[in-house]
This record gives sequence, C-alpha cells and structure tokens, in this order.
Amino acid sequence: MKITNKKTTCDYSLVIANNSDYFKRHSRLAKELYVLGFNADDDTCINASGEKTIFCFVKDKNDKEGLKINASKAFAMAKKLKISNLELVCNADLALDVIEGILLGDYSFDKYKSQKNKSHIKTIYVKMSDKLFKQVSQIETITQSVHFVRDLVNETPENIFPQSFVRHAQNAIKDLPISQKVLSDKDLEKEGMNAFLAVNRASQHGARLLHLTYKPKTAKKRVVLVGKGLTYDSGGLSIKPGDYMVTMKSDKSGASAVLGTIIAVAKLGLDLEVHAIMGLAENMVGGDAYKPDDILCARNKKTIEVRNTDAEGRLVLADCLSYACELKPDYIFDVATLTGACVVALGEYTIGIMGHNDKLKSKMSIAATKAGELTGILPFNRYLKRLIKSEIADVSNTSSSRYGGAITAGLFLDNFVDEKYKQKWLHLDIAGPAYVQKSWGYNPFGASGAGLRMLVEFMRGLN
Ligand code: BES
Ligand code: ZN
Ligand code: ZN
Repeated sequence: MKITNKKTTCDYSLVIANNSDYFKRHSRLAKELYVLGFNADDDTCINASGEKTIFCFVKDKNDKEGLKINASKAFAMAKKLKISNLELVCNADLALDVIEGILLGDYSFDKYKSQKNKSHIKTIYVKMSDKLFKQVSQIETITQSVHFVRDLVNETPENIFPQSFVRHAQNAIKDLPISQKVLSDKDLEKEGMNAFLAVNRASQHGARLLHLTYKPKTAKKRVVLVGKGLTYDSGGLSIKPGDYMVTMKSDKSGASAVLGTIIAVAKLGLDLEVHAIMGLAENMVGGDAYKPDDILCARNKKTIEVRNTDAEGRLVLADCLSYACELKPDYIFDVATLTGACVVALGEYTIGIMGHNDKLKSKMSIAATKAGELTGILPFNRYLKRLIKSEIADVSNTSSSRYGGAITAGLFLDNFVDEKYKQKWLHLDIAGPAYVQKSWGYNPFGASGAGLRMLVEFMRGLN
C-alpha cells in the first residue's frame, strides 16, 4: 500500500471530521446522519455507502491518541470494502497523526492462517504540501520498523531461537549502514558471561550476543541499547505453570524492540552513534539445566545466588549491561519483558521506567507520551534494595518479599551497571504492553512493538 500526495482518482473517501467545523459546512448530511441515530459528538465512524464515504468524527482534536485510534478504526472499515484508491480528507494539522494511526493499525499476523486478511487498498491519496509530505515517509519508516518487531515477536519459538534471530536481524540490516558482531557460546565464555550462559545451558540451541552498531561520522552522542532476548522462557527448573508459559515466545520483545529501533534510527539517518546489544538465549529444562541453589559468577565478577530459574532475564541482562558499559555510553537503556510484577503494578498497557536519574526518567516519559506510548515511573528505594541481599553470594536473583517485584528486579540490574554510568542508565520494563492477548487501540492481538516509538522519539530529541 502506497501513500501519495499526487492527485489520484479515488473510489472512496475517508473524511476526518472535527464536528464543529465540518458540520457547519455540511448541515444536510449532518441532519441525515442524525436521523440515522448518529451522534456527531461521539468519537466514532460511519460508512455512508451512498456517498462512498467513511466519516470519522473526532470530538477533541487535541487528543492525538484518540485521533490515531479512530483513524485506525475507520481504515479497518475501509479495508473491508472492495476499494482500491482511498482519498483521505482532513485538516492539514491532523493529517500526520491520522496517517500514523492508519499505518499502526494496518497490521495482522496471519502467516499461519489459511484465510488471509486481504486488503484491496493500493493507494491512499492525501492532498498535502510536499514539505509536509516529507514527514509521511518518516512515519512510514517508523511504523514499518514497528511491524518488523511485531512479526519477529509473534513468530513461533520453533522458528525463532538465538541463531535464527541473528539471521533475521542480518537480513533486515543488509542494506543499511549498520555493522555487526556476533558472540557465540565460546566467545561468551571468554568474556566471562557465566550468568548469561547458565540460562541457556539446557537449550538445544546455542546462545548468542548480537551487537549492532550504527556510527555516523559526525555523531556527538553515543546511545547504547540492551535488549532481553529470551526466545522462549519456560521458567527452567522453576518451571512455569501451563497457563503462564503460553505467550512466553514474547520474552524476546526487548531484543526485538532494540533491533527495530536501531534499524529505524539508521533509516532516519539520525546523527547519533547507536549500539544495540541483544542477549539471546532460551530458558529450558534438562539434565544440564542451571538450578535454584547454584551460584553464578557474572562478567563483572559479582556472584549471584540463583533462587529461581524463572528470574532469568536479569541474569542475561547482568552480563550484557557490564559489556555495554565498556562502550562508554552517554545513555544506556535496557529494554526487557522482565517481570510479571510490573504488569501487576501498572497494568498491561504501560511501560515501567526505572533508574537513578530523575531528570532522565522524566525525559524518557515525555518522549513516550509524545510518541503515543504509556509509561509509569517506578521509584527505587533503599529498603527494597535490601530484599535482594544473599547470605552466601553478593546478590540474590530474587527478592525475599512478594511485593515490589518490578523494582527489586531493576535494583538487581543496578549491580551490573558500572558506577560511572549509573546516572546515564534507565531500565525499561515492557512486560505489560509488549504482548497483549486482545487488540487495544491501534495495537493488534499479540505483539505491539512496545518501546520502539518511545526510544526513537527520545533519540530524535538528542539530534
Ligand atoms: N519473562 C518473565 C516476565 C514476564 C511475565 C513477562 C509476564 C511477560 C509477561 C520473567 O522471566 C519472569 O518469569 N519473571 C518472574 C520473576 C520471579 C521468578 C522473581 C515473574 O515475574 O514472576
Ligand atoms: Zn522467567
Ligand atoms: Zn523471562
């Protein structure tokens, strides 16, 4: 599907009407719709097939998210009709958000369905100045990356394991100015990444650390992204109950989000050095599985008492964070589906932001809002920090209390961020929004691509 601002003959229109201005000009139509029981004050859409028009009414044009969601609903309606060219009619100041909503909503993972959700729409024509239209291609770049992340996360654990994840990434970056380094089990051993390796030990697949770099010559700031890439999380020997294991293919959402982000940044040509470090492993059961009671020595030489093998993401991230600090970042962000506790705290739709730097946390939260993602700041404190003390090692991989689990996980990670970078680090827990088993707003069932738009927006702000 193509979006164009070159005059095209269209067989249908999608009118985005902010009621007060639109209905003053179209009172006959407004009356007719009213007779049909249609209230123009609602945020809603209607298909007036006689007029070959879908009307999408917007109550509050300052509610950008509401507008994007409505536009995606109206477009879903249009897709059900057998039309090929759609004209988008709306005020210039709303058009970019409308297009973003349409593109974000235009996704379904139907690879494994015999009946595909086929859309006949080939072109969306929107009357717009060439200057403004330039921004449309940036929106397309970002939404395409979001779709790439959704596809990767939705793909089955049979097909996505560390090595195949790397292949998908390599395929996606092959025409981009992004360089790569892949560490396999032997390399991870040399690096002393024993916490990371322990998690993957019972897997039939090897572990991988994928390190991608985008480094434009004039870049002045260096951003290092670290992603949790558990291609499956069965819980290990502390095995998950059946109901909780389903959806754990989505435990690679953090790695997928940082991969999508570096791709988007490279395509947008932002003048920033960006690294994406993905810790790829599979948490399985077997005779050689790591065990509760094991003590692991991490890359930074801290020892970890394993009390629950299902708290594996923090073990992988521990080693990746210590590796990441050696790159001397100006910003270091880890992205992970780290805890169910974060979902309990904030609900399914919201990303948890943690860290030591209040200014940085609020900067990230503002970027998220601007990009249309929800965040909540979860504050660290000295009392919660005590709960991950171990009697026999430097730190325990689980808290001694059932409360505050998202924060104690964040505080565990803090042990592996070098002193110098503590103020530059944020931990982003996407366990809630990364994968939701019902559609919400313009997000589909399953993977949403959470984190990507927030991170790209944050980095645009640095540019
Ligand atoms: N991958 C899970 C966290 C998760 C839960 C992500 C729900 C998405 C949705 C993580 O590895 C995990 O199992 N965490 C445990 C930690 C506990 C054992 C301390 C949890 O949240 O229960
Ligand atoms: Zn787990
Ligand atoms: Zn996990």
